Amino acid sequence: MTAVTARAHTNIALVKYWGKADTDLIIPQTSSLSLTLDQFYTDTTVAFDADFTADTVILNDHRLSRDASQKVRHFLDLVRQMSGETRFATVTSTNHVPTAAGLASSASAFAALAGAASRAAGMELSRADLSRLARRGSGSATRSIFGGFVEWQAGHDDHTSVAVPFQEQVDWPIAMVALLLDPHEKKVSSRQGMQSSVTTSPYYPAWKQVVAADLAAIKPAILAHDFTTTGEILEANAMRMHALTLSANPPYSYFNGDTLTAMQTVRDLRAAGVACYYTLDAGPNLKVFCQTPDLPAVTTQLAAQFGADRLVVAHPGPGIQFL
Ligand code: DP6
Repeated sequence: MTAVTARAHTNIALVKYWGKADTDLIIPQTSSLSLTLDQFYTDTTVAFDADFTADTVILNDHRLSRDASQKVRHFLDLVRQMSGETRFATVTSTNHVPTAAGLASSASAFAALAGAASRAAGMELSRADLSRLARRGSGSATRSIFGGFVEWQAGHDDHTSVAVPFQEQVDWPIAMVALLLDPHEKKVSSRQGMQSSVTTSPYYPAWKQVVAADLAAIKPAILAHDFTTTGEILEANAMRMHALTLSANPPYSYFNGDTLTAMQTVRDLRAAGVACYYTLDAGPNLKVFCQTPDLPAVTTQLAAQFGADRLVVAHPGPGIQFL
């Protein structure tokens, strides 16, 4: 038995992925662009053994039930299919991310699993192939194979739907402040939520145009270190993604009361001359984008209002690593 351990960091989309064109292969409706973060990561060890009689998944020291481990076991089946491996596996995973609190733990989780499982099964995949494989576990995991700014090119099939580094070494002093407003598991998973947006929101066709325009505009802004343009695009893009939840049938929302209060805090900071913008995913927690010289002003205000223990300051992080 050889055990392989991989570490992958989560990523926050600045231009969001919200909707699939192919739910089985996880081909998205649109491309997306993210920043991999240094603070939130998953370490996953995979070992295949002829003595195992079933797959076992241990997450943060707890053994998952058959139901809870379904996505991971399905992913292992895929790896067995690709590699010819026939044995069962034990997967041991530690999430340094508040699970399912909208901090995209599935991104780091499936990126780390793709790395560890494929190597443990004897495959030496390129980073592009790892990105394709990670995609089959969770769309956002596609991007977590790479560090820094990453673009997931939507493509149209398994081969063409893959992430590419946009700028791996980020030489821009930026930060993402995560504000944890509710650590609980989200009620509507991103998987369900985006599917309901695709099939029931009358705004979905407009969203595809929004994403195309935002991607075209944010890329030069990032390269030029144009903070205002980058911030304006990422904040508007997040709000337009959330407009798809409000306009779905039945309508729903990931916001809670604190989310709205925190959004206002960011706008107030901006009005007071502190350059910062927020984004948020399928949960109530805000991530506030700023440049490092503005970090003290941002964290002081958020800590005063919500408590210092709710803040995590993250910076650009690396791609997948084997430990
Ligand atoms: C709001 O990658 O969790 O974070 O592909 O169904 O596993 P599945 O969804 P997931 O969705 C992420 C949605 C998002 C936006 C983003 O990360 O681009």
